[in-house]
Amino acid sequence: MAELLTIGEVSRRSGVASSALRFYEERGLISSERAGAGHRRYRRPVLRRVAFIVFAQRVGLSLDEIGEELAKLPPDRAPTRRDWSRLSSKWTSRIDQRIAELERLKLGLTECIGCGCLSLDRCKLANPEDRAARRGPGPRYWIGDRPLGG
Ligand code: FES
Repeated sequence: MAELLTIGEVSRRSGVASSALRFYEERGLISSERAGAGHRRYRRPVLRRVAFIVFAQRVGLSLDEIGEELAKLPPDRAPTRRDWSRLSSKWTSRIDQRIAELERLKLGLTECIGCGCLSLDRCKLANPEDRAARRGPGPRYWIGDRPLGG
């Protein structure tokens, strides 16, 4: 007896905007059934998928990476806690990376906010160890690039 949820209900319960849910669906990360007038109806387990997507994004996974992870879920049965745990097991290193980024941000905050140069040559905050140079111009890490591994 699957309980079907409207997009508004999924939005309220997950805290994710309907527009974002539609976007996730366009990207194939979640799926819905269509009711009579073509309205989306979601099976209840979609809430867990949405929670996974939100956490994974916060950890720093791209939508493509999230899609690859979600594709590993069994198609023939509802995912178990173990399935979800397996999917999130590689998050530890991503979280460590984020912590390191935030530590760097904290250390450089006062100097760099006062300075504002974001120099690729000398700003340790915008370009630690000059690793961002190959990514192109601008403060690569501030505009969304993830640092290279290592
Ligand atoms: S912004 Fe100038 S050194 Fe970081």
